[in-house]
Amino acid sequence: MTNPYTLEGRTALVTGGAQGIGAAIAKGLCDAGARVFVCDLDADVGKATAEQLGAEFVAADVTDSTSIDAAVDHVVQTADSLDVAVNNAGIVHNHPSEHLSDEDWRRVLSVNLDGVFYSCRAAGKRMLEQGSGSIINTGSMSGHIANRPQPQSAYNAAKAAVVHLTKSLAGEWSDRGVRVNSVSPGYVGTELTKRGMNNDEWRRAWLDGTPMGRVAEPREIAPAVVFLASEAASFCTGTDLVVDGGYTVW
Ligand code: NAI
Repeated sequence: MTNPYTLEGRTALVTGGAQGIGAAIAKGLCDAGARVFVCDLDADVGKATAEQLGAEFVAADVTDSTSIDAAVDHVVQTADSLDVAVNNAGIVHNHPSEHLSDEDWRRVLSVNLDGVFYSCRAAGKRMLEQGSGSIINTGSMSGHIANRPQPQSAYNAAKAAVVHLTKSLAGEWSDRGVRVNSVSPGYVGTELTKRGMNNDEWRRAWLDGTPMGRVAEPREIAPAVVFLASEAASFCTGTDLVVDGGYTVW
């Protein structure tokens, strides 16, 4: 029987792939046999990561739709197809909501929601033309619960929207061969959580709130994405796979 988890012969693009969860996802996709394009705003780190993985690099700012459109065009021109798109670029901003500026609200929504939509649209257009493809958006447990003690209403709202955007696009595109799913991690040890892990109160709350009593390593998120990208998930669409060490059970 053919291995349903293999990604041999597939081309994948990972936004926010330079570091953290995105880099681990890029590695997981490479290990499963895909030709991978690491896509990031940070060209220096992105190129180094791509080189280390035996992947390729393409620069893009996901908040600019022309930039992500060009990145998808580059992948299609270079590799002839785009089969897997992982829309993972994201930022966090922790600030009390009553004092959150318009600019900071917009900045978070712009990367975490606009960026995911622009990336889905760019990849989806191509995949609909070819009649096949798998899109995986990085959501978060913050799309299901409001984290504590740190304030991050813009982030939480954007992630809830990503989960619902995923379902909406799955409804539109699945009967034309394009599956759309999301993966929602719990706390993962990356640059994004460094500030919280260095804060005694936050770290204690995060670990106490996680039944497994620890944060994840980035490599523990990647297999969920590889699964959704592959034929093993051929009947999965519009689903959100929560990988959170149990955080959302309490
Ligand atoms: P990270 O900060 O380590 O990496 C984020 C990457 O996205 C960086 O390489 C950065 O250059 C890139 N990026 C930021 N803005 C961009 C833009 N406008 N265009 C293109 N690339 C851009 O963060 P981490 O932790 O790896 O997060 C990855 C995703 O996982 C994010 O969507 C985040 O919200 C989500 N997530 C993270 C969790 C965690 O605990 N670390 C938990 C749940 C979700």
